[in-house]
Amino acid sequence: MRDRPAPQDLLDWYDRHARAMPWRVAPADRARGVAPDPYRVWLSEVMLQQTTVAAVKSYFEAFTDRWPTVTDLADAEDAEVMAAWAGLGYYARARNLLKCARVLRDDFGGVFPTDHATLLTLPGIGRYTAAAISAIAFDAPETVVDGNVERVMARLFDEHTPLPQAKPVLTEMAASLTPRARPGDYAQAVMDLGATICTPRKPACGLCPWRTNCAAWANGTAAELPKKAPK
Ligand code: ADE
Repeated sequence: MRDRPAPQDLLDWYDRHARAMPWRVAPADRARGVAPDPYRVWLSEVMLQQTTVAAVKSYFEAFTDRWPTVTDLADAEDAEVMAAWAGLGYYARARNLLKCARVLRDDFGGVFPTDHATLLTLPGIGRYTAAAISAIAFDAPETVVDGNVERVMARLFDEHTPLPQAKPVLTEMAASLTPRARPGDYAQAVMDLGATICTPRKPACGLCPWRTNCAAWANGTAAELPKKAPK
């Protein structure tokens, strides 16, 4: 029988292979008690919805240079922010970003709430973003589920139910693996694994720290998962 995938094996991998990103605190610094700024986590996660890491980097740097805090962003003119967003697409994200920044300024003293349920009440913050801020900024054991995480789970558990039908079960699997130790690093580790090793096509299973725990690897089905419902 295969052992269940151990979060610690993935964290050990992440300690060696975490991708450097301008909004990230490296695992060694995190271990020394350096916590990420929730503003930077929120901004990066909103930008990363529907946009690649490579495309987001320069926008993220431009935004944080110009508006170093959420209150600075809240005080900006709408037109300035929309112009700075130009090229990232999905402009509703930018409008919600401003709305959220102003609620944080006006009702929260410019400080992000640490409570997951309160985060969910903020404009533009849905399940994914609330979980990402809770886990990454506040190290709360929330489960972050994006397309990378769904693919990793579908393969670990050799789940052949097609997307989107499989979403609830994949989310349940991801939640069942989320550790209480280092949940923020863990959340980013699963996303990095999905982006660099457990890739949609030609996954690099030989380099995967969870290979021996992976049902799809054992069955030779990794490359065909997750299944997608025909359109
Ligand atoms: N994709 C979206 N958010 C991410 C993060 N924090 N780390 C890696 N990939 C991501």
